[in-house]
Amino acid sequence: MRKHIVAGNWKMNNDLAQTSSLISELKRQSKTSDAEVMIAPSFTNLWHAFESTREDDIEVIAQNMHFAENGAYTGEVSASMLKSIGVKTVILGHSERRAYYNETDESLTKKVDAALANDLRVIFCFGEELADRKAGNEETVVERQIKNALFHLEASAFKNIVLAYEPVWAIGTGETASPEQAQDMHAFIRKTLESTYGNAVADDMTILYGGSVKPNNAKEIFGKPDVDGGLIGGASLKAEDFYAIVNAF
Ligand code: G3P
Repeated sequence: MRKHIVAGNWKMNNDLAQTSSLISELKRQSKTSDAEVMIAPSFTNLWHAFESTREDDIEVIAQNMHFAENGAYTGEVSASMLKSIGVKTVILGHSERRAYYNETDESLTKKVDAALANDLRVIFCFGEELADRKAGNEETVVERQIKNALFHLEASAFKNIVLAYEPVWAIGTGETASPEQAQDMHAFIRKTLESTYGNAVADDMTILYGGSVKPNNAKEIFGKPDVDGGLIGGASLKAEDFYAIVNAF
């Protein structure tokens, strides 16, 4: 079912003490919208974050996972390990992982399949580079990214997928996509889903926008008909800013 979601991707920020204090500040905020709230701490802080938010309307999610069930993959974490501590949702395909760790459409397909096989919900990230947009190729790039990693799935699998459009040129730059740019791309993504999977899958799909969402621009972006929420980086590290975005619906 399509829903409002605001997820905070903490990336490689916050040690255990900082995680504790940010969660205490988050608990002091009040939610006045219908948005589902998620936070994605680093692996080392996941368990503590779970323990500290058991009574709160905050879902703790993972930033990544490996596609193998187990084995000789030093430094990696599997879907079943995440599940064993209570994780129900995992972010996959973030542009930083594509850029720095050579995540490809192929490796992401395997990760999506492994996550779904472990009943995890996937927040699947994708988005064009600045050069793609300047060349007018943003739709071609985005279509390729979602089709290559997701369009082998049965229609029923999409109930466990959330899409996150994150134009790379807007991530961490303060260069937010305009509400119109976000709406145009989200509408294109929904149309692309509809052409292969039909109305029901397309209408039910939650599509998040990520890339320099801040308290002063969230309302306009979230007010667009095909934007269902945001995947928030920098602004998720300050409790007040994060909840200003959560409450922007
Ligand atoms: O995953 C969300 C992130 O990439 C967006 O980062 O700092 O531009 O909100 P930021």
